[in-house]
Amino acid sequence: MEIVVVADFEEMSERAAADIITLLNEKPDSLISLAAGSTPTGTLNRLVEAQSQEKVDFSQAIFVGLDEWVGMDRTDEGSTQHYLYDTFFLPAQIREDQIFFFDAKAADLEQECQKIDRLIEEHSGLDLVLLGIGVNGHLGLNEPGVSLELTSHVMDLSETTKQVGQKYFAQETKLVRGITLGCQHFVDADKVILIANGEAKAKAVAGMVQGEITSDLPASVLQKHMNAIGYIDQAAASLLEQAQ
Ligand code: PGA
Repeated sequence: MEIVVVADFEEMSERAAADIITLLNEKPDSLISLAAGSTPTGTLNRLVEAQSQEKVDFSQAIFVGLDEWVGMDRTDEGSTQHYLYDTFFLPAQIREDQIFFFDAKAADLEQECQKIDRLIEEHSGLDLVLLGIGVNGHLGLNEPGVSLELTSHVMDLSETTKQVGQKYFAQETKLVRGITLGCQHFVDADKVILIANGEAKAKAVAGMVQGEITSDLPASVLQKHMNAIGYIDQAAASLLEQAQ
């Protein structure tokens, strides 16, 4: 994994968006998974702008959901689908037939996992995953303690994620489980872009890069990846040994 320390949220977003645009221009029918959250908003805004300026064309790309809170769908404010539709799919005019999400309300969640795994297999793997990192080092909803060899799965949320996740909701919301792509999907993806900003992420970022690969800090699995890049702002990089 390569780490690039950038000045701030703006530069982080600019660099991540530029990489995604380059990839799309090389492979317009890429299979892409995009994180929701506070971190990707600047990146996604730039992608929408680039499309409106005809610098990139998403019309052949396929988008697969990274994760979702179990029991929620697009109509739930605070769901990852709600965020991605609002921030990216609708403004970028992505068609419904380009979008595949876990149905996190399904009675049979195992079947949902198989559906998404099959989709990824049929496309010979993910071309690109845009990831944030949790303050506890999670990727998607792969929480500390997860097996790093899993593909799609359902996971009990950590106490940290249950609390931190409240920021996405207007009212206090009970968060119990998540359905998520697995760390094996990230390791197998052609390219991973991880973005992190702010001091709250500094400990997780340091653990991701400098610690051993451990399920206690799922993001550390990216150390194995030959084509992963992390755009980390100064604050999030503040505990890195060679922070610039
Ligand atoms: P955030 O979430 O972008 O809202 O900080 C990151 C994550 O939990 O992966």
